[in-house]
Amino acid sequence: MDTATAILEGLLTEEGSADPFPLFERARTLGPVLPAGDGVLLVTGYEEAERLTRDRAFGIRRTEAGEATGPGGTEHLAQRIISASLLETDPPRHTRLRSLVSSFFAARRIPALEPLIAAAVDDLLDEMAGQAGQAGTPDSGTLGPGAPDPSILGPGTLDFMEVFASRLPMSVICELMGVPKEDRHRFRALSSALTVTLEIAQPPEAVLAADAAAAELVDYFSDLTARRRADPQDDLVSALATAAEGTGGAEGTDARLSEDEMLSMFVLLLVSGFETTASLLGNALALSFQHPLAAAGLRDGTTPLLGFLDEVLRLEAPVQYAARMPLTEGLDVGGVPAPLGTVALVFLGAANRDPRQYDRPAEFDPLRTGPQPLAFGGGAHFCLGAPLARLEASIALPALLKRFPRLRPAGEPARRYGLMLRGYEKLPVALG
Ligand code: HEM
Repeated sequence: MDTATAILEGLLTEEGSADPFPLFERARTLGPVLPAGDGVLLVTGYEEAERLTRDRAFGIRRTEAGEATGPGGTEHLAQRIISASLLETDPPRHTRLRSLVSSFFAARRIPALEPLIAAAVDDLLDEMAGQAGQAGTPDSGTLGPGAPDPSILGPGTLDFMEVFASRLPMSVICELMGVPKEDRHRFRALSSALTVTLEIAQPPEAVLAADAAAAELVDYFSDLTARRRADPQDDLVSALATAAEGTGGAEGTDARLSEDEMLSMFVLLLVSGFETTASLLGNALALSFQHPLAAAGLRDGTTPLLGFLDEVLRLEAPVQYAARMPLTEGLDVGGVPAPLGTVALVFLGAANRDPRQYDRPAEFDPLRTGPQPLAFGGGAHFCLGAPLARLEASIALPALLKRFPRLRPAGEPARRYGLMLRGYEKLPVALG
């Protein structure tokens, strides 16, 4: 097996996805764009990665599976839902779908969400304080008779991912969409189950769980859409339900949004707004533990908050790669031929450590200058939720560190499965 193929195989192992950076460096020594057998290109250079995400001659072909079958077809439901969403759709369909939601997430609208996010953060910090109190008592660890509280890991120890990091983004995205509070508890597990669909390696049992989760979410959103059509509210589900009403959605007609596209959109927004931002919060806290001086500076305002978050996004990008495929013959990526059928894996997490762009690339330095990390992608698919994710993290992180000045790690963290999404499954902390 050639070296590049061995690197790709290494990345797909559990150890490789837990720590892909040595493998990225090995790939980089061979070149910023590396053919890895079977029509795969590994892209680890910043410049090449950025150009590729912006180049309209490259697209996301998996879309066609979604278009061909639609959510009523015979393939795996979770895959069909994601394939039919704007994430895996090329223009012109992508342009139409994105224009229907872009105004909800526009950078100018996001600052207005600050009070809502700050209130959600305060509530969660209060809950953490309450649960830490319970965690210290002899009968701690239960919500009631026989019901273990998954946030409480042991005396005085909470799982930050469970108690805070996953709750904040879920509550914010649900608020924007108009999902009632009493329904939200179901969504974290469903959304997590679905994320396997985004990974290259998909264990069969996880694919079945993703399909079951997709079915439940589609049922839920069909029902919510019907309720919102009968009684519209000032929320995203009502707005899209109205846009989709009475339309066929077929390409080349006036239809704005088909019913299937609308349901795919709801599922995509829920999934993409949740796991990634939860990972950003967890990765930020873990890095603050490793860099206590910088963290202390976040408490007293001497560390630049945006510089800190950019370093988290650079070094521990919650989305490690995006895939692109040539749409015509005769293309290349950084001089490496990319015939039709090639899949270029654009490793954002590797580009963010490219020594041609960043001095001391593996070092955490909130004061560094240099290009923006590629954590949110680029071009037509640039992350719709980037301003929202940044705002959530920039409110949550200082509030957390100020509220619990003695917050510290309390045991071995566990990484979540997968190469694409980089974050923690469990991040045990003690508050005092
Ligand atoms: C797309 C990262 C938070 C919604 C993307 C892409 C990346 C990304 C890299 C581009 C994928 C590609 O080019 O193939 C992140 C990270 C986040 C985050 C790191 C948090 C730190 C959010 C949030 C939302 C969101 C809060 C809110 C709804 C989306 C959507 C797309 C997207 C809808 C697809 C856009 C398109 O294809 O046009 N995200 N995201 N993301 N993100 Fe995010």
